[in-house]
Amino acid sequence: MALKVKEGIYWVGVIDWNLREFHGYLTDKGTTYNSYLVLDEKVVLFDTVKSEFFPIFLDNIKEIIDPKEIDLIVVNHVEMDHSGALPKVMEIIKPEKLICSPKGKEHLIKHFHREDWPYEVVKSGDQLSIGKRTIKFLETRMLHWPDSMFSLLVEDGVLISQDAFGQHYATYGRFDDEVDQAELMRQAKKYYANILLPYSGLVSKLVEEVEKAGLKFEVIAPDHGVIWRKDPDKIIQSYKKWSAQQREEKVVIVYDTMWHSTELLAQGISKGLEDEGVDHLLMNLHFNHRSEIITEILDAKAILVGSPTMNNYLLPTVGDFLAYLKGLKPKGLKGAAFGSYGWSGESVKVIEKELESVGIELISEGLRVNFVPSEEDMKKAREFGRKIGRYVKS
Ligand code: FEO
Repeated sequence: MALKVKEGIYWVGVIDWNLREFHGYLTDKGTTYNSYLVLDEKVVLFDTVKSEFFPIFLDNIKEIIDPKEIDLIVVNHVEMDHSGALPKVMEIIKPEKLICSPKGKEHLIKHFHREDWPYEVVKSGDQLSIGKRTIKFLETRMLHWPDSMFSLLVEDGVLISQDAFGQHYATYGRFDDEVDQAELMRQAKKYYANILLPYSGLVSKLVEEVEKAGLKFEVIAPDHGVIWRKDPDKIIQSYKKWSAQQREEKVVIVYDTMWHSTELLAQGISKGLEDEGVDHLLMNLHFNHRSEIITEILDAKAILVGSPTMNNYLLPTVGDFLAYLKGLKPKGLKGAAFGSYGWSGESVKVIEKELESVGIELISEGLRVNFVPSEEDMKKAREFGRKIGRYVKS
């Protein structure tokens, strides 16, 4: 069902209640694909939805206006969750112009192979009058694709921000003041950690520019999840903190275990961290999804990764996690490795090498234990935990 955001501005997106996987990200609460319709002398549609949701999307638009009355379509971001329905939409609406960034045009052609669409390329700072309203475009390259841009409805103070400030969060409430606040911020943090983290430098710069320009938004309308209308500054300030990768006295212990020996070491390390009064979590990769772990790592000072040695290497879950972590390029994170082994015992060295390749500085020599930890080994694990704890507090 279409919903009013402000006078003449409507949400016409769709809710994907059952999505549970998005490129390796566990979307435990589903998601939404947001699209916005603005009624003025020119009628403008911002972004579309995933292709399979086209019928319900069209229905939502029809609740507000005959789709044929749409004059302009703005593509803020080409990724298929926002452009999948575009070919069908173009066929029905036949807009005067299809507005996008320079890279947007390039990407649209490479996705849909339609050179004949009425592209109108806009760049940062370009403005377009649509009647009472002005749209100002701001390219946000690599946030998170080269084509990405924001559209600001200047007179309304509404920022249509494509993926940025979004959440994979399917809810009946479409606005920030209509949903559980803790869950909203959990989902916003998870989204940042798993999607925007590698581009944190650009996010910091963007937030700085927004603050320097004294821009205040009445509404921030992202392409996923709820719309920020009660407190848009809350998500801006959160992005400022997350992009600075401000870290707390917190340690995440990530591991998998074969016969519980590596798990026993994790428990011993946990005791050592407790001795030092340091907040920490134990996250067994068998039961915790990589995207949940990354969310916890976003504000942790250190990560301890444990794996037994299997076939001279790691358990597959640990390899999967390290590959995912590497792509997200966290900054300022410290780490160490631990694990049990039977005869060859390579796992700790492999983890250390991988952590270093991610840019994670090792803060302790790794902890290796042969087969099942003895009482002495458990004392060593506890001391290892204390050492990490002291480092984190320093
Ligand atoms: Fe929601 Fe980058 O697409």
